[in-house]
Amino acid sequence: MTQIPLPELALVALIGASSSGKTTFAARHFGAYEVLSSDHFRALVSGSEHTLDANEAAFSSLYHVAARRLERGLLTVVDATSVRAEDRRRLVELARAHDVLPVAIVLDLPRSVLDARHEARPDRPFSGAVIGRQQTDLRRSLRGLSREGFRHVWTLRSVDDVETAQVTRVP
Ligand code: GTP
Repeated sequence: MTQIPLPELALVALIGASSSGKTTFAARHFGAYEVLSSDHFRALVSGSEHTLDANEAAFSSLYHVAARRLERGLLTVVDATSVRAEDRRRLVELARAHDVLPVAIVLDLPRSVLDARHEARPDRPFSGAVIGRQQTDLRRSLRGLSREGFRHVWTLRSVDDVETAQVTRVP
């Protein structure tokens, strides 16, 4: 069972392809106001979680709220795929700007699981190929996460790993 001892004040990046279970994991382990979800911010600024041309507005709003929380010393979780280095760099910079530890929880599930879940979700209007690209980007990224500035990296590689992980807060 993977133990995830989180620093009390951290910027937590949940990293994983679509359907890897980030939102479910976040709801299980964190408070509603601790989690900033890119889907939620897309919906707030555009009326739908899936308006892709709302990405810029959604992320700038998400980063703004994250910054306001971090300056108050509140642990903040970012629920976005973050499979691309440039997306993660903004998170590391945000954490550093507020003297907070950037940490990563990676959900790296087998492609077969992602495909099966994607098939079962009528609410995701993109093709399975998108998930394949996200997974490729993620796998390329894995070894470099510490070098990018994440102070702790926990990687969950199976459904069982994700479902049994224990998150604790350490002062
Ligand atoms: P995106 O918002 O598309 O990036 O997906 P996500 O990574 O946030 O995944 P989400 O938590 O929305 O879960 C996607 C699907 O997988 C849902 O249908 C969930 O019911 C299922 N799922 C998520 N986590 C688990 C899990 O731990 N166990 C099982 N059995 N199913 C899960």
